[in-house]
Amino acid sequence: MTRVLSGIAPSGDFTLGNYLGALKHWVTFQDDNDAFYCVVDLHALTNEIDPQVLRRNSLDAAINLLAVGLDPRRSTVFVQSHVPEHTRLTWLLECTATVGELSRMTQFKEKSEGHETVRAGLFTYPVLMAADILLYAAEAVPVGDDQRQHLELARTLAVRFNNRYGETFTVPDAAIPGAAARVMDLQHPERKMSKSVDSPLGTIGLLDSPEEITRKIRKAVTDTDGEVRYDRVAKPGLANLLDLLAAATDGTPQEVAKGYTRYGDLKKDVAEALNELLRPVRERRAELERDLSYVGSVLAEGASRAHGVAKLTYARAADAVGLLPPS
Ligand code: TRP
Repeated sequence: MTRVLSGIAPSGDFTLGNYLGALKHWVTFQDDNDAFYCVVDLHALTNEIDPQVLRRNSLDAAINLLAVGLDPRRSTVFVQSHVPEHTRLTWLLECTATVGELSRMTQFKEKSEGHETVRAGLFTYPVLMAADILLYAAEAVPVGDDQRQHLELARTLAVRFNNRYGETFTVPDAAIPGAAARVMDLQHPERKMSKSVDSPLGTIGLLDSPEEITRKIRKAVTDTDGEVRYDRVAKPGLANLLDLLAAATDGTPQEVAKGYTRYGDLKKDVAEALNELLRPVRERRAELERDLSYVGSVLAEGASRAHGVAKLTYARAADAVGLLPPS
């Protein structure tokens, strides 16, 4: 079985974009892979976040992972900070990475631009991500397009470390899901649907009510030529709706476009399909909220399984660089 690892930041309510772009594929991956999925709470500290909110968001994220269908019997679901080797390996990898290569990370440039003070953790963020991946000898890493460069860095660090100190790490590959990898904002279809931009009408939450979903789809921006066809460049709003319908019904956007002559009919069906898709998630979420001790036990078990793997990799890496073993 292929070892798969991915992580998601505990950034408050998950969006439909998180679900169709990532989580839906995580659920599929668990069928025939040995999958590790973590809530990356340490990564969240690179931004200003209230401690209470971070704690609540981390639990919330874990509940959502279970609600969308991750099965703790088949996947290891855990919280990053519960496994201390993530930070320990980060140090060894910070001494492998160079300031030059971290300065070239586009996400760092974007997020630090125009800010007077920038946390050092924002700069080393991709190294922590590399540690997440390398600790578990992950072969396949499902990530969105925006994380491709970070994954490339993880590969570079693995190779450099292995060359310098001997075979220690598995060199990971990206596993970028093809279909519906990018769900766009319903009001600004040229940008990605994201919780972090303020666009309440453009963003569908994983836990939105059917009424909210229907309203947001009805108000989604389209165009004035009135023709239903799939054209990402000329008709980005409509293309996004077709992508959503395709993702929700496992079709292709070109296929699902057939048979529609009016935007209103398409929107009605998109809303219905999304409601169908998200209803079981909402229901399972409500059940889990009533059984938080179950969620806690899943995370404890996940942390213990993850730790079992991580401590072996870390011990090998520490030995390779010449740290004196404690006993
Ligand atoms: N940086 C990733 C993101 O913003 C989240 C992440 C952290 C991650 N660690 C990871 C993804 C390890 C894949 C593997 O989406």
